[in-house]
Amino acid sequence: MGSSPNIASVLVVDDSPANLVVLEALLNPLGVRLVEARSGAEALERIAEETFAVMLLDVQMPEMDGFEVARRLRKLENGRDLPIIFVTAIHRDEKYSRQGYASGATDYITKPFDADVLLGRVKGFVGLFQQREKLRHKEVAERTRERDEAMQQLAVLLESERAARREAEIANNAKDEFLATVSHELRTPLNSILGWTMIARRLSPSADIERALATIERSARAQARIIEDVLDTARIISGKLRLEMTTSKVADAIGGAVQAVRPAADAKGVRLESKLNGSIGFISADADRLQQIVWNLLSNAIKFTPKGGRVELTASRVGSIVRVCVTDTGQGIRREFLPYLFEPFRQADGSTTRRHGGLGLGLAIVKQLVDAHGGSVVARSDGEGTGSTFTVELPGCPTPGLVEEGSTGSWRLSALDASAIDVRLDGLRVLVVDDEEDARSLVQRLLTDQGATVGCAPSAEDALTALEATRPNVLVSDVGMPVVDGYTMIRRIRSLPPERGGKTPAIALTAYAREEDVERAFAAGFQAHVSKPIEPGKIISLVANLGRIARASEPPPPTQ
Ligand SMILES: Nc1ncnc2c1ncn2[C@@H]1O[C@H](COP(=O)(O)OP(=O)(O)OP(=O)(O)O)[C@@H](O)[C@H]1O
Ligand SMILES: [Mg+2]
Repeated sequence: MGSSPNIASVLVVDDSPANLVVLEALLNPLGVRLVEARSGAEALERIAEETFAVMLLDVQMPEMDGFEVARRLRKLENGRDLPIIFVTAIHRDEKYSRQGYASGATDYITKPFDADVLLGRVKGFVGLFQQREKLRHKEVAERTRERDEAMQQLAVLLESERAARREAEIANNAKDEFLATVSHELRTPLNSILGWTMIARRLSPSADIERALATIERSARAQARIIEDVLDTARIISGKLRLEMTTSKVADAIGGAVQAVRPAADAKGVRLESKLNGSIGFISADADRLQQIVWNLLSNAIKFTPKGGRVELTASRVGSIVRVCVTDTGQGIRREFLPYLFEPFRQADGSTTRRHGGLGLGLAIVKQLVDAHGGSVVARSDGEGTGSTFTVELPGCPTPGLVEEGSTGSWRLSALDASAIDVRLDGLRVLVVDDEEDARSLVQRLLTDQGATVGCAPSAEDALTALEATRPNVLVSDVGMPVVDGYTMIRRIRSLPPERGGKTPAIALTAYAREEDVERAFAAGFQAHVSKPIEPGKIISLVANLGRIARASEPPPPTQ
């Protein structure tokens, strides 16, 4: 039972019912709520249950006298500050009243007493109590109001935080979309530039034209790499970098990078030496990414080493670790710059008058790729003019030589030899689907040059008709096309029975090169994904491989 703020409760404690009746009759005019207790124990119980304005307490009671009740009372939460008026007829002696005050009484009244005096005292305490209660209620109301206000503010804050997060997500998605679109738009023309330049170079042009074409090709490749670096950085930042782990020979992966940078070293007059120990064995890594790591370190070494200098690559095995070191005799790195070397966009010389190009992304990508492989990369240089050494350590396969090369478990055909430009495609029928005339005729030309019979379709609908009419061995298709896109087209094809071309192997050839674009292509039913700008060697090898598989599974021609 709780006390109401307006009606105060008064506890009257006496073992004599007659005394109770008298006291209650006396207090009645105060309009308070009277609660009676017939013993000390009962009084303590009542006090534990509710808050009283004042207590009238008899002294002489069996079992527990009033003094004892007062002492115990002070230990109760509700009793600590409760005013006690002792009312007694027997203990009139001075010593009892002293004892009463000592046990915590606020008053000690002996009988016979003046009714008005008692009434006045009780009234005083009731008034005090009501005042205190009013104050307490006001405080509670104030605190509740404050709490409600705080809750409201919190709710507003939460909502604005949620809205900010929603906006950030939208902005983030928009950024991803933007990157995908920009990369698509940049890759599409590059595809034509690179592809046709390569075709033109194969037509044995004059020395002048060959030099011009070689320059165009080199520049287009450099531009393609910048697009890749920006996309890689975006992937890393958004945590979307994925590795295609395979088991590959360390020497092969590194050899590819050395081969790719050798022309640049030769052109600059920098001696490039690689000391690859054939028994370094195998490494479990994403072969393309491993090549990218080494390529970046070698390119930097060549870029920052003047003519006549030397760049040396060594690869060795230390226990189960594969260690790759790239050392150069070039310009070296200032001690103060070393801690920032692997941060994106950081360059020792970022001025507009600097001697070397680049975005400052190479080493940041190297660091992320090495980390993702569970390895480490460190740079050492004794300062400007003293050359630099970059050391990469990666976990190798436990026993060199015991693992079978290419035992990847993955069926994807992503890491084919890009230089296989002389593979012949004689007798293969290929259908090329692309809404862009330039891109279509480029692939057609590349494949026709290798001996394939190539049909073209400018849309997914035309492709579906051509597929059934010409029954190609391999399909090469763009993905982003108006009306029906490549994903929908391949899903439709995959729903056809084998005799109508439902199982025709298909390559997605697209300028959308994000991780999710590749995933989507595989999920829709393509067997391979090639991003633009295309490497002619890669597309030719893929068509050759898929064509071989397709032809092997064709039913033999009926014998007469
Ligand atoms: N071998 C090196 N010798 C001297 N300085 C180096 C070497 N490698 C890297 N650096 C310094 O570290 C910076 C960052 O290298 P990073 O490869 O990240 O960028 P970049 O080569 O300038 O541009 P990007 O690689 O994006 O084309 C370089 O600009 C250069 O100042
Ligand atoms: Mg670089």
